[in-house]
Amino acid sequence: MDQVNGSVVTEFVLLGLTQSLGMQVFLFLFFSLFYVGIILGNLFIMLTVIFDSHLHSPMYILLANLSFIDLGLSSTTVPRMISDLFSSCKIISFHNCMIQMFFIHVMGGAELVVLIAMAYDRYTAICKPLHYLTTMNPKMCMLLIVAAWIIGVVHAVSQFVFVINLPFCGPNNMGSFYCDFPRVIKLACMDTYSLEFVVTANSGFISMGTFFFLIVSYIFILITVRQHSAKNLSKAFITLSAHITVVVLFFTPCMFLYVWPFPTKSMDKFFAIVDFVITPLLNPAIYTLRNRDMKVAMRRLIRQVVNIRK
Ligand SMILES: *[C@@H]1O[C@H](CO)[C@@H](O)[C@H](O)[C@H]1NC(C)=O
Repeated sequence: MDQVNGSVVTEFVLLGLTQSLGMQVFLFLFFSLFYVGIILGNLFIMLTVIFDSHLHSPMYILLANLSFIDLGLSSTTVPRMISDLFSSCKIISFHNCMIQMFFIHVMGGAELVVLIAMAYDRYTAICKPLHYLTTMNPKMCMLLIVAAWIIGVVHAVSQFVFVINLPFCGPNNMGSFYCDFPRVIKLACMDTYSLEFVVTANSGFISMGTFFFLIVSYIFILITVRQHSAKNLSKAFITLSAHITVVVLFFTPCMFLYVWPFPTKSMDKFFAIVDFVITPLLNPAIYTLRNRDMKVAMRRLIRQVVNIRK
C-alpha cells in the first residue's frame, strides 16, 4: 500500500517474528513468561531496596533505578510484540511508532548513564575508600539519577528531530517487530545517508565508547582489588563480575544494532530480543542471586509481608 509517489504514509507495517503456528504459541508462552518475570523481578528489587533501610546505600539505590529503567525499556516493545504474535495485520500508526522510538532511546540513554554511575560508585568505593562517604552521598546519587534522565531525553530528542519531519511516501514495511531509528530512516523517501551517519554516531559510537570505557574501568578496579586486601577480594569479585556481565549483555546488542554496517534481519531480531527481553530479566537474577546482602534483605522483606498478613 501507499506505493504511489507523493502519498503520505500514516502507518507502518511491523514484521512478524514467525509464520508457523507452533512457533507462535511457543514464543507467546516464552515471551509472556519472561515479561512476567521482568515485572516481578524488577519490582521485587525496587521494593526491597526502598523498604529495607540496610540497602539505602548508593550501590543499591542505583540498582533499584536500573531495575525501574529495565522495566520501562522492555515495556516499550515486549507487550506489543506479544500481542502482535497472533495478529495478521501488524500495523503501527506513525504516531505510536515515533512514541515507541522516543521512549526506547530515553530509557536506553538513561540506562547507559546509570551503568556508568554504578561503575563510578564501585570505583570510588574500592579505589578511593577514604573519600567514598563524601563523594557518593545521597545528594550525588540523586544528581546522577537526574543526569541519567536528562541525558536520556537529550539523546532521544537529538535523533528524533531529524526523523519527525522526514517525508514518508513509499514503502512502509519496517522489516522489524518494533520501530527504531535505523529502520525508520531507511523508509524515508529521500537520500538519508548523512542521517544514517547521525544515528550511527549518536547511538552506535556512544554505546561503543561507553562499553570500552566501562570495561577498562572495571579491569582497573579489579587490578586495584587484587593489589589491596585479600580480605574482601572474593566479595568484590562477585559484585564486579555481576556488573561486568550486565555491561556486556546490555551493550553487545546495542553495538550490533547501531554500529554493525551489514545488518541482517535475523541477527537484528535476535539482538533486539536480547536487549528487551533477556537483559531486563537477567539483571535482577544476576544481582540478587549472587549478592548476599540482597538475598538477606529479600528474605527479611518476605518475612515482614508474611507477618503482616498473619
Ligand atoms: C532512584 O534514585 C533516587 C535518587 O537517589 C532515589 O530517591 C529513588 O528511590 C531511586 N528509585 C528507586 C526505584 O529506588
